[in-house]
Amino acid sequence: MKNILVTGGAGFIGSEFVRYMVERYPDYHIICFDKLTYAGNLDNLLPVSDEPNYRFERGDIADREAVRQALETHNIDTIVNFAAESHVDRSILAADAFVHTDVVGVYILLDESKNHGIERFLHVSTDEVYGDIPQGFSAEGDAFAPNSPYAASKAGGELMVRAYHVTHGLNTVVTRGSNTYGPYQYPEKVLPLFITEAIDDRPLPVYGDGKQVRDWLFVHDHVTGIDTALHKGEAGEAYNIAGEDLRHNIDVTHMLLAGLGKPADLIKHVPDREGHDRRYAMQADKLRALGWQREYTFERGVALTIDWYRDNEWWWRKIKTGEYMDYYKRQYMARLAAAEGSSES
Ligand code: NAD
Ligand code: TYD
Repeated sequence: MKNILVTGGAGFIGSEFVRYMVERYPDYHIICFDKLTYAGNLDNLLPVSDEPNYRFERGDIADREAVRQALETHNIDTIVNFAAESHVDRSILAADAFVHTDVVGVYILLDESKNHGIERFLHVSTDEVYGDIPQGFSAEGDAFAPNSPYAASKAGGELMVRAYHVTHGLNTVVTRGSNTYGPYQYPEKVLPLFITEAIDDRPLPVYGDGKQVRDWLFVHDHVTGIDTALHKGEAGEAYNIAGEDLRHNIDVTHMLLAGLGKPADLIKHVPDREGHDRRYAMQADKLRALGWQREYTFERGVALTIDWYRDNEWWWRKIKTGEYMDYYKRQYMARLAAAEGSSES
């Protein structure tokens, strides 16, 4: 492993991985390949932009010629694929881009990996492929039952990874991370949305009763999990990266408000997300057996995350304009209007 193409490395988790790898492995060349969609942001990579073992290439993983050129130019032997459309609510509004990147893009990357003799292909997937888990904890052998267009597109991409391993002998590893949070997360996801909205004393739109359960994982722990699977995972296998820290959304919301010193009457219960999975839960025994363990409790990670958004308004205020505001209005205006008078204290 020498020349690693990190696709989607300008997004939230991918940029944490790039920053971590550039520092941790000075002998590796880390090439970030990213389309720079609304979610891709070169500000996320400023801390490494002058490092000699880091490069950036703009490109689309579904563009075969661009992928081929990147693999050849940089003599790539390893791919870590983060590139995806990643937000469930956007996939409900329109799923085209999800199929383009999360299914077709993954196929093109795999096919060019086969053609170029790539030695290791790590694909970043999600716990959402397992679908709603009313009780118990998902293990890697469990069946897929994706419910949102996002989850279905991720499941489709993952099955193509499996097929390229079984059929073409590509050396693949898949990781399935749980809900991830931390610095540099685009403020459409629930934690950064609620933190930045609460800083401005604006309403926090909690979907439905807020009793849905998510398993929370700090971004640094997600990235060390990927590093472990990349170096120690067995070819053809999948590994859960679980925070194993289950919380109700409403409890998370109260925790954020308490951390920010903001009142509970900012909470608005709004009409629920369509097809909303009630509970995600995974166990991480298989990855732990490779030596990985979580470092951050949810309390510590949330405190760090709140501090980061408080200290880095330069990063998120310029995002919350233009396209972001169009999306925000489409997603929330009618919901918030429907919630008038339903605030909670
Ligand atoms: P993100 O939306 O912050 O970043 C996605 C990145 O991919 C952006 O930089 C974007 O520009 C890039 N991209 C999108 N389409 C592309 C294309 N066609 N070609 C090249 N680049 C493209 O996402 P994230 O939250 O950092 O998630 C990264 C990966 O982790 C995704 O595959 C996602 O499914 C997975 N994941 C996310 C979470 C989570 O909680 N955020 C949890 C588990 C798994
Ligand atoms: P999100 O951050 O979108 O991640 P995912 O859908 O991948 O789990 O949402 C996390 C949880 O928070 C999910 O149960 C939906 C809920 N949620 C809200 O209640 N309100 C919101 O405005 C958002 C974005 C999410």
